[in-house]
Amino acid sequence: MNKPLKRHESLKPLSRDHHHGLLLCWKIREDLKRNIPHERIKRYTDFFFTSQLRPHFKFEEEEIFPLLGEHHPMSVRAIKEHARLESLFKMEADAETFNSIEKELNRHIRFEERELFKELQETIPEEKLRNITNKEEEIITPDPDDWDDKFWQKK
Ligand SMILES: [Fe+2]
Ligand SMILES: [Fe+2]
Repeated sequence: MNKPLKRHESLKPLSRDHHHGLLLCWKIREDLKRNIPHERIKRYTDFFFTSQLRPHFKFEEEEIFPLLGEHHPMSVRAIKEHARLESLFKMEADAETFNSIEKELNRHIRFEERELFKELQETIPEEKLRNITNKEEEIITPDPDDWDDKFWQKK
Protein backbone atom coordinates (compact mmCIF):
# COMPACT_ATOMS: atom_id res chain seq x y z
CA MET A 1 0.00 0.00 0.00
CA ASN A 2 1.23 3.48 -0.81
CA LYS A 3 1.82 5.55 2.25
CA PRO A 4 0.16 8.95 1.85
CA LEU A 5 2.75 11.63 1.34
CA LYS A 6 3.17 13.92 4.31
CA ARG A 7 2.67 17.55 3.40
CA HIS A 8 5.96 19.45 3.44
CA GLU A 9 6.16 22.08 6.20
CA SER A 10 6.58 24.87 3.63
CA LEU A 11 3.39 23.95 1.83
CA LYS A 12 1.25 23.73 4.95
CA PRO A 13 0.06 27.38 4.93
CA LEU A 14 -1.10 26.89 1.36
CA SER A 15 -2.88 23.69 2.36
CA ARG A 16 -4.59 25.65 5.11
CA ASP A 17 -5.79 28.14 2.50
CA HIS A 18 -7.06 25.18 0.49
CA HIS A 19 -9.00 24.00 3.49
CA HIS A 20 -10.67 27.43 3.70
CA GLY A 21 -11.40 27.25 -0.03
CA LEU A 22 -13.14 23.88 0.42
CA LEU A 23 -15.13 25.44 3.26
CA LEU A 24 -16.21 28.21 0.90
CA CYS A 25 -17.49 25.53 -1.50
CA TRP A 26 -19.41 23.94 1.34
CA LYS A 27 -20.89 27.34 2.33
CA ILE A 28 -22.02 27.95 -1.25
CA ARG A 29 -23.67 24.53 -1.44
CA GLU A 30 -25.50 25.10 1.85
CA ASP A 31 -26.59 28.61 0.89
CA LEU A 32 -28.02 27.51 -2.42
CA LYS A 33 -29.92 24.70 -0.72
CA ARG A 34 -31.41 27.14 1.75
CA ASN A 35 -32.23 29.81 -0.82
CA ILE A 36 -30.08 32.51 0.70
CA PRO A 37 -30.46 35.67 -1.44
CA HIS A 38 -27.77 35.70 -4.09
CA GLU A 39 -26.57 39.21 -3.20
CA ARG A 40 -25.64 38.02 0.26
CA ILE A 41 -23.64 35.11 -1.09
CA LYS A 42 -22.02 37.38 -3.65
CA ARG A 43 -20.88 39.87 -1.00
CA TYR A 44 -19.10 37.04 0.76
CA THR A 45 -17.60 35.46 -2.35
CA ASP A 46 -16.30 38.94 -3.34
CA PHE A 47 -14.72 39.34 0.08
CA PHE A 48 -13.28 35.83 -0.09
CA PHE A 49 -11.85 36.30 -3.55
CA THR A 50 -10.20 39.64 -2.79
CA SER A 51 -8.87 38.82 0.66
CA GLN A 52 -8.01 35.12 0.30
CA LEU A 53 -7.91 33.77 -3.20
CA ARG A 54 -6.27 36.60 -5.09
CA PRO A 55 -3.20 36.73 -2.81
CA HIS A 56 -3.11 32.92 -2.74
CA PHE A 57 -3.17 32.66 -6.54
CA LYS A 58 -0.54 35.37 -6.84
CA PHE A 59 1.73 33.59 -4.40
CA GLU A 60 1.38 30.29 -6.20
CA GLU A 61 2.04 31.89 -9.56
CA GLU A 62 5.10 33.80 -8.37
CA GLU A 63 6.69 31.35 -5.95
CA ILE A 64 5.30 27.86 -6.45
CA PHE A 65 4.65 27.11 -10.10
CA PRO A 66 8.02 28.54 -11.24
CA LEU A 67 9.65 25.76 -9.21
CA LEU A 68 8.13 23.28 -11.62
CA GLY A 69 8.67 25.60 -14.57
CA GLU A 70 6.13 27.70 -16.42
CA HIS A 71 5.81 25.13 -19.20
CA HIS A 72 5.21 22.19 -16.91
CA PRO A 73 1.72 20.83 -17.78
CA MET A 74 0.62 21.14 -14.15
CA SER A 75 1.69 24.80 -13.98
CA VAL A 76 -0.04 25.50 -17.27
CA ARG A 77 -3.23 23.86 -16.04
CA ALA A 78 -3.18 25.63 -12.66
CA ILE A 79 -2.60 29.08 -14.18
CA LYS A 80 -5.41 28.52 -16.66
CA GLU A 81 -7.74 27.49 -13.83
CA HIS A 82 -6.81 30.58 -11.81
CA ALA A 83 -7.83 32.80 -14.72
CA ARG A 84 -11.06 30.88 -15.19
CA LEU A 85 -11.89 31.09 -11.47
CA GLU A 86 -11.14 34.80 -11.39
CA SER A 87 -13.59 35.39 -14.23
CA LEU A 88 -16.23 33.28 -12.45
CA PHE A 89 -15.87 35.31 -9.25
CA LYS A 90 -16.37 38.47 -11.27
CA MET A 91 -19.54 37.23 -12.92
CA GLU A 92 -23.10 38.10 -11.96
CA ALA A 93 -24.55 36.59 -8.84
CA ASP A 94 -26.75 33.75 -10.03
CA ALA A 95 -27.14 30.10 -9.09
CA GLU A 96 -25.36 28.88 -12.21
CA THR A 97 -22.28 30.98 -11.48
CA PHE A 98 -22.18 29.89 -7.82
CA ASN A 99 -22.49 26.27 -8.90
CA SER A 100 -19.58 26.66 -11.28
CA ILE A 101 -17.44 28.35 -8.63
CA GLU A 102 -18.24 25.57 -6.19
CA LYS A 103 -17.45 22.80 -8.67
CA GLU A 104 -14.37 24.32 -10.25
CA LEU A 105 -12.76 25.63 -7.07
CA ASN A 106 -13.21 22.21 -5.49
CA ARG A 107 -11.60 20.51 -8.46
CA HIS A 108 -8.76 23.01 -8.63
CA ILE A 109 -7.88 22.59 -4.95
CA ARG A 110 -7.98 18.81 -5.17
CA PHE A 111 -5.76 18.91 -8.23
CA GLU A 112 -3.16 21.06 -6.46
CA GLU A 113 -3.26 19.01 -3.28
CA ARG A 114 -3.20 15.57 -4.87
CA GLU A 115 -1.14 16.15 -7.99
CA LEU A 116 0.74 19.43 -8.11
CA PHE A 117 1.95 19.51 -4.50
CA LYS A 118 2.82 15.84 -4.73
CA GLU A 119 4.89 16.51 -7.85
CA LEU A 120 6.62 19.42 -6.08
CA GLN A 121 7.53 17.33 -3.08
CA GLU A 122 8.83 14.51 -5.22
CA THR A 123 10.87 16.54 -7.68
CA ILE A 124 12.00 19.80 -6.05
CA PRO A 125 15.04 19.77 -3.75
CA GLU A 126 14.27 20.17 -0.08
CA GLU A 127 16.33 23.33 0.13
CA LYS A 128 14.19 25.11 -2.43
CA LEU A 129 11.01 24.03 -0.71
CA ARG A 130 12.29 25.39 2.57
CA ASN A 131 12.88 28.73 0.92
CA ILE A 132 9.16 29.15 0.31
CA THR A 133 8.46 29.65 4.01
CA ASN A 134 10.28 32.97 4.30
CA LYS A 135 8.32 34.42 1.43
CA GLU A 136 5.03 33.19 2.81
CA GLU A 137 5.45 35.24 5.94
CA GLU A 138 5.16 38.36 3.84
CA ILE A 139 1.56 37.72 2.90
CA ILE A 140 -0.95 37.91 5.68
CA THR A 141 -4.59 37.46 4.80
CA PRO A 142 -7.47 38.21 7.17
CA ASP A 143 -9.45 35.41 8.75
CA PRO A 144 -12.10 34.29 6.22
CA ASP A 145 -14.57 33.96 9.08
CA ASP A 146 -14.13 37.59 10.08
CA TRP A 147 -17.45 38.43 8.48
CA ASP A 148 -20.61 39.74 10.15
CA ASP A 149 -23.21 38.20 7.86
CA LYS A 150 -22.60 34.48 8.54
CA PHE A 151 -25.63 33.31 6.59
CA TRP A 152 -24.31 29.74 6.29
CA GLN A 153 -24.82 29.20 10.02
CA LYS A 154 -28.18 27.70 10.79
CA LYS A 155 -30.17 29.79 13.20
FE1 LIG B 1 -4.16 27.44 -7.27
FE1 LIG C 1 -3.87 26.75 -4.33
